[in-house]
Amino acid sequence: MSNVVIVGAQWGDEGKGKVVDLFTSWADVVVRYQGGANAGHTLVVGGVKTVLHLVPSGVLHPGKKCIIGNGVVVDPEALMEEIDLLKSRGLLADPAQLTVSDNAHVILPYHKRIDAGREKKNAIGTTGRGIGPCYEDKVARRGIRVRDLLKADALRQRLVMRLEEANGQIAALGGERVELEPLLEWGLKLGERMAPYVGDGSMSVAYEMEKGRAVLFEGAQGTLLDIDHGTYPYVTSSNTVAGNAAVGACIDSVIGITKAYTTRVGNGPLPTELNDATGERLRSVGAEFGATTGRPRRCGWLDALVLRYAARVNGLSGLAITKLDVLTGFEKLLVANAYKLPNGKTVTDFPSDPELLAEAQPVYEELPGWKEPLSDLREYKELPENAQRYVERVEQLVGVETIAVSVGAERAQTIVRKNPFRHG
Ligand code: IMP
Repeated sequence: MSNVVIVGAQWGDEGKGKVVDLFTSWADVVVRYQGGANAGHTLVVGGVKTVLHLVPSGVLHPGKKCIIGNGVVVDPEALMEEIDLLKSRGLLADPAQLTVSDNAHVILPYHKRIDAGREKKNAIGTTGRGIGPCYEDKVARRGIRVRDLLKADALRQRLVMRLEEANGQIAALGGERVELEPLLEWGLKLGERMAPYVGDGSMSVAYEMEKGRAVLFEGAQGTLLDIDHGTYPYVTSSNTVAGNAAVGACIDSVIGITKAYTTRVGNGPLPTELNDATGERLRSVGAEFGATTGRPRRCGWLDALVLRYAARVNGLSGLAITKLDVLTGFEKLLVANAYKLPNGKTVTDFPSDPELLAEAQPVYEELPGWKEPLSDLREYKELPENAQRYVERVEQLVGVETIAVSVGAERAQTIVRKNPFRHG
């Protein structure tokens, strides 16, 4: 069996949840390896919409094992809300279906207050979920882990060590302090509710692999939001690239998910952004509003420099193109294949210098559009000729084959060209 990683090839929101949900039928285990409740996967199965922030989308397939790895930052309230929702829909009947890594770090109310206070002063456009401050505590070795919520003494000791300093940070940002006793009570209550799901995540993954099970690693956010490889400082606080999933795992293929156009929420460079009627049309037809925060997403044409970059830093072996149906009805479609920089140079590689990127002018090539709706099509060859031409030109520009094309929000509205798992 084999291990496959799914990563966002743009700035997040590429439709990874849907592709993971679809590929889960070939997998036995689905693992989330980074990020937190800043992610939002919207899944539509049989007309029922489910938005998941933490639990891997594989949970919608009864019997598939789901693991929240130690690289994830867990908001215990958000997790329990999600578990309750899933249970109310008859899913996750057996707690053994979900393992939450005991070594994963926990998002506490003071992380959210620090995140919110900082955004008022210096906006990155974060989701306000406390993600950055929680990862900071992890790296500073003063974090609270899921295992700490299960032991009152350990939790008290660790909170006493951290809370005064956290309150100092909150006060400096003009926020309201967090009191120890209610915080302790809150943490222990949630710990008790989470307990049936808590386990050794790393061991669980190793155990499943030893048994020869097919493991799907589900990335959150996107390559351009990676703390090292993204458009810093307008990034999230974890490594979103495929390499971060590879701890202890031999990865067989990495599938990059891209929309047929580009979107971004939050601040930071977006060279192909369209602040005009075309951008507005992409946003309204594509329903481009954040699944986590409801913010309108910034929209623009597809950017091949971004995708080539994502192919390089993730080692992409396949692409899945989502929302191709949103492009129906445009007379012509543009794809950026180079940037003209302020120094007069034209480049075809994504620049690492944020100042150059901020001023980069996309150089577009034009492709003919199509008029036919795509949502009922299930075979690649049924796609209008110009839609096939668009997909194949993207493959050429990126140098990676397309293994799936999505033409609607439903699980069934997908044209699958190749199974990324090596079976047998
Ligand atoms: P944070 O992850 O909440 O700290 O936000 C940092 C940046 O990442 C902001 O620009 C967010 O909008 C962006 N971001 C975080 N999670 C997601 C996601 O799941 N999709 C899209 N953007 C995200």
